[in-house]
Amino acid sequence: MPTLLIVHHTPSPNCQALLEAVVAGATAPEIEGVDVVRRPALSATASDVLAADACLLGTPAAIGYMSGALKHFFDQVYYPCLDATRGRPYGCWVHGGSDVTGAVRAVGSIAGGLGWRAAAAPVTVTGTPSRQDLESCRELGAVLAAGLTD
Ligand SMILES: Cc1cc2nc3c(=O)[nH]c(=O)nc-3n(C[C@H](O)[C@H](O)[C@H](O)COP(=O)(O)O)c2cc1C
Repeated sequence: MPTLLIVHHTPSPNCQALLEAVVAGATAPEIEGVDVVRRPALSATASDVLAADACLLGTPAAIGYMSGALKHFFDQVYYPCLDATRGRPYGCWVHGGSDVTGAVRAVGSIAGGLGWRAAAAPVTVTGTPSRQDLESCRELGAVLAAGLTD
């Protein structure tokens, strides 16, 4: 069964709401035959990435960059996964207080270095997530999961 790996750093209720919306989309009943695996960024491993067929990445913005936790994840998996995961579909969501530009750029830069392919536009949210923000996250999860059923 194809596997969608969700790697996230979730340090607050607002971030948790986004994660739950992403997971709800990825595990929607109409999407059958996809195994959805969730891993906090500080516990995700290269083996998790190698065993997956697509990745979803979630992070808060932190001083103009992704969270240290997600950066640590990339530091752990970059070289072990570099050859084996080129072309891998991925997506990301970023939560922040005001300006998530640097965090989005940073995730795209490292994922691009790995040769991963953006399968959806990044979802960015600031402050308390609106209904539309949560729907965008749900859609992000659904798009990545549905892409593995083709
Ligand atoms: C040290 C620190 C740095 C932060 N840097 C940024 C930043 O560069 N851009 C931004 O939009 N939000 C920034 N934030 C806000 C966090 O992204 C935000 O607190 C996190 O997404 C959790 O959201 P919440 O506090 O609304 O639940 C920062 C927060 C902290 C504590």
